[in-house]
Formats: sequence, C-alpha cells, structure tokens
Amino acid sequence: MDKIKINGGQPLFGTIPISGAKNAALPLLAATLLCPEKIILENVPKLADVHSMQLLLSDMGSLIEQPSADRLVIDNRQIHSYRADYELVRKMRASILVLGPLVARFGEACVSLPGGCAIGTRPVDLHIKGLQALGAEIEVKDGYIYATAKKGLQGTKITLPIVSVGATENIMMAASLANGLTIIENAAREPEIIDLANFLNKMGADVTGAGTSRLRIKGVSSLKGCHYPIMTDRIEAGTYIIAALITGGELTLTNAPTASLDALLTPLTQAGVKIETLPGQISVKPSSRKLLGIDIMTEPYPGFPTDLQAQFMALMTIAEGASMMTETIFENRFMHVPELARMGANITIHGASALIRGVKNLSGAPVMATDLRASVSLVLAGLAASGETIVNRIYHLDRGYENLVEKLTNCGASIERSKN
Ligand code: EPZ
Repeated sequence: MDKIKINGGQPLFGTIPISGAKNAALPLLAATLLCPEKIILENVPKLADVHSMQLLLSDMGSLIEQPSADRLVIDNRQIHSYRADYELVRKMRASILVLGPLVARFGEACVSLPGGCAIGTRPVDLHIKGLQALGAEIEVKDGYIYATAKKGLQGTKITLPIVSVGATENIMMAASLANGLTIIENAAREPEIIDLANFLNKMGADVTGAGTSRLRIKGVSSLKGCHYPIMTDRIEAGTYIIAALITGGELTLTNAPTASLDALLTPLTQAGVKIETLPGQISVKPSSRKLLGIDIMTEPYPGFPTDLQAQFMALMTIAEGASMMTETIFENRFMHVPELARMGANITIHGASALIRGVKNLSGAPVMATDLRASVSLVLAGLAASGETIVNRIYHLDRGYENLVEKLTNCGASIERSKN
C-alpha cells in the first residue's frame, strides 16, 4: 500500500494552482444522466472519486471521452442500466447522487445503500424521503434502494429537517425534470450547490435561490447539452492556506475561490495572519508572531466547513495557547487526533469537542490515514514536524487531492510517495 514520507520543518514558498472541486465534479457528473445530449465538462480534477463516478456512469452505458487532462465529453444518450452496484457505491458514497437523475429521466433506479464510512453512519434517509415526496415509489431491500416513477415525478414542497448537501443535490436534480414547481426549504447553501444549479440551468433547467436556504425548481420536459467549467476547490485551497501557516512559509494560490473561504479567512485574519486576496488569488505571508489558538465550530455553509476541521486542528496543535474545536456535522470525525498525538500534539476529546493545547513543535512519526481529510491533516503536521513522518494508507488522499506531492514539492517540501 502506498505511503508518503515527509522530512518536515522547513517553510513552504511558492505558488500552488487550485484544481476543480471534487464536491462539485461528483454531483455534476451525476447530473449529466438527466441530459440526452452531449455535455462537455472543463476543469475536471484528476481524482480517484471522479474516476469512480466515471466508471459508474460507464457501467450504465455512458460514453465518456477525455480529449485533454481536465476535460470530459459525456454522452448519456445510450444509458441502458439504471443500477449502481454495492461494489462501486461502497467505495464512493457520492454514487448515491445518481438516484435522483435516474428516477427523473428514466422512471427507475436501483442504487446500493452506501453504508457507513470512517467519519459516520452517513444515512441517506433524507434522499429517499425527498424522492418519495416527489412521487417516487421506493422500496429498500437487500441493501438496495429500488425506486420507480413510471408516471414521472410531481413537484412539491419539501422541508429538510437538517441541512444536507447530498439530499439537497439529489432532490434538486430530480425536481429539474418533475412536473410543476418544487420548493426545498432548509436547503444546503454550499458553493457546490450553486455550481450544480448553474450547471442545471445551463442545460435548460429552471432553478432559482441556489445559495439560499430556499430553492425553487420549476420542472422542464427535457434538458440540452452544454459546455461547463467546474468551480475550483475551496477545501483544497483552505488546505494549502493552512500548509503555508503551519510551516511558517509564504504561498500564493492561483485559480483560488476567494469568495467562499470567509469562514476560514476571517478568524485567521482576526488572529493576525497576513492574507491578501485578489480575484482568483490568495496569498498567505509569514507573520512575526506565533498564531494564537482559535476556537472553531463546524457548521453548514457559510459556517466553518467540516472538511477543513482536521486540517485546522493540525495547525492549532502548534498555536500559542489553547483552542476548542467542535464538530457538529459528523459523529466520528476526530480520527486524526490519536495520530496527531503520536507526533506530540496535546489534544483532549470531550464528546463532539476537542481541546487542543498548543505545543512548541511536533516530531515526525509513522502515522495512519483513516479518511480523506484526516490523511491530509497528517501530511500538514508532517510538513511542520521536525524529523521524518510516514503517512500510511494514503489511497485516502488520492480521493480528494490532485497532484498533492507535486504541488508541495514545487514549494520546497521534502515529500515523496513510495510503495511498500
Ligand atoms: C457532502 O457530503 C460532502 N461530500 C462532504 O465532503 C461534506 O463533509 C458534507 O457534504 C458536509 O458539508 C460531497 O459533496 C461528495 P450531508 P454529504 O448530507 O452530502 C446527515 C469530503 O471530505 N444526513 O450534508 O454526504 C449526515 O449523516 C466529504 O470531501 C442524514 O442524516 O453530507 C451528516 O451528519 C466528506 N440523512 C449531515 O446530515 C441524510 O439523508 C450532513 O451530511 C443525509 C445526511
């Protein structure tokens, strides 16, 4: 199994281009199932999860060409299977996002329940209830969701009891081809929701209110092909901002989504960090004094993103003083804590909160990646630690970070990937 070896302790200096957003690319790929014409997607990140979604679509009959590194041409005119097998879905939970498009366009779907993952049970009850509200008949049997809507879907009003990015996306996609008007109350407001709505509208859908908690979707009879550039990845950008800070270096991020990182940039700026933003560019400069501990609570957008919690915690392990981090979205998203402790971090978990007492520095150690964001937090800690860190099971990293070793090497990191 691949691992990453890091000799830490030196500041990073240089420029990092930010790639297309994983959490936009996945719903957009699923949404292409709604369209009987060719779609061209640009700025597609080279990630394991994106590859898995392509395999899933191809299994159903999708014809996908890749004329260049970040461009996909997708032709879903010949979809012949409406089934997403457990073997694929268990590896990539976002496969559940094909459910809504399949039911909306073909009137049927058979999608495996994704099952839990390292960070939580990750139920999909809200996806199922949303599609039932739109008129789909759904039976859950033998680990699969069997959905049918032979007479098509019917627009309705749906109020989500909790904010769910995936459920909002599945319902929005299904509603785009339903008869009549659908309102989604308490919808997720993430930038990736806006990107999906923009993509649907470019295909001829009629979605308004994206980015607010009230989505309005007027169903249309069919969608048409289009050419769409995927938004850049705010979580990748946030990760590299933290890489600059944890190593005391200076990084400029290009192609960066500057408008969607306030929840990270505001507390950092208030703590005295020098961050300059220009259109599409974020620069982080070293500051003379040590970063003070910052208390953070993860929340749905525009709150602090849960997908940056592990990375920020790595930064707080060497801050001045203490910080409290509370994870409100997932029930088990502290698995990086014992690994960071192996590197000398002083962290105590109290239920959904972790108390981090800053230490002078971290020391390199062999550590284990457990999930995507935990693994990158260990890389960040390794970049800051004195000595050698080995991060094992880094297949998790390949799911969400395009060319991470190359991007960090180009900024002076002593980091290499090896097979053991
Ligand atoms: C999306 O997951 C992201 N994944 C996650 O990113 C991200 O952490 C999460 O949103 C929150 O922002 C993609 O976009 C592919 P949710 P999703 O539905 O849609 C509960 C990463 O690292 N819930 O917003 O699965 C759920 O258990 C990944 O890139 C239900 O109870 O998240 C969680 O507690 C990790 N029933 C909360 O809602 C449901 O039917 C929010 O989950 C659905 C969700």
